[in-house]
Amino acid sequence: METALAAEYRRLCESPDTRQPLAYLRLRRAIRTVVEHRDIEPGQALPSERDLSHALGLSRVTVRKAIAGLVEEGLLTQRHGAGTFVAERIVKPMSRLTSFTEDLRARGLNPRSEFFERGIGEVTPEEAMAMNLSPGAAVVRLHRVRYAGDEPLAIERSVVPASVLPDPMAVRDSLYEALEQRNARPRRALQRLRAVSLSAQHARLLHVPTGSAGLSIERRSFLDDGRVVEFTSSWYRGDIYDFVAELHTD
Ligand code: GLP
Repeated sequence: METALAAEYRRLCESPDTRQPLAYLRLRRAIRTVVEHRDIEPGQALPSERDLSHALGLSRVTVRKAIAGLVEEGLLTQRHGAGTFVAERIVKPMSRLTSFTEDLRARGLNPRSEFFERGIGEVTPEEAMAMNLSPGAAVVRLHRVRYAGDEPLAIERSVVPASVLPDPMAVRDSLYEALEQRNARPRRALQRLRAVSLSAQHARLLHVPTGSAGLSIERRSFLDDGRVVEFTSSWYRGDIYDFVAELHTD
């Protein structure tokens, strides 16, 4: 079985700069890469554990461990008796502070944005409260429809202090990439989710019928020093996204 997956796994074993001593992490990375490159498409099955362990010379335990981590991340799903598949819905683990662009790229999708607004303005009283800014402070405002290829997935309105990001045009595809370039990538965030029926205006932009189920998400993200770096309100299509949280007792 010389599949794209086996080839990628071997490449990782041989390449000196990606040398990963632990076999299950190497396999996890290889699976991620083939999903990203769409060598295995959403909804398609992965080779069975037995075939993988045989083809790659790995123990079943190692293969199982590699897969379990990706199931937890939401990249793969398991159906009892049927095997392991690349997830079709976008499953977003809530414990990781990642960007829309990163989430989609990790699934081999092509993230894209259409901007309605990308400029500088003055903070509103509500935003000033949410972001601990003084009245009148300058902020960058982004209003975008976020797509996977041609399919609209979400509408987002973001507000970022201009003291952190002075030039709105620095945001091209990804806000977090622009923040990263200024050493201001958020480290922590508070997120609130609420079920909504999408308004006529939102439904039109998301190509779904008015009143369809949606998720309204508000994210406040912070820098290490406690400054708020973004205040974003999003409306996600409810028919595509699953938000998954890991819970611990203690
Ligand atoms: C998600 C979050 C937003 C965040 C965005 C950044 O969609 N809900 O709060 O602003 O990711 O994504 P990107 O870096 O692709 O612009």
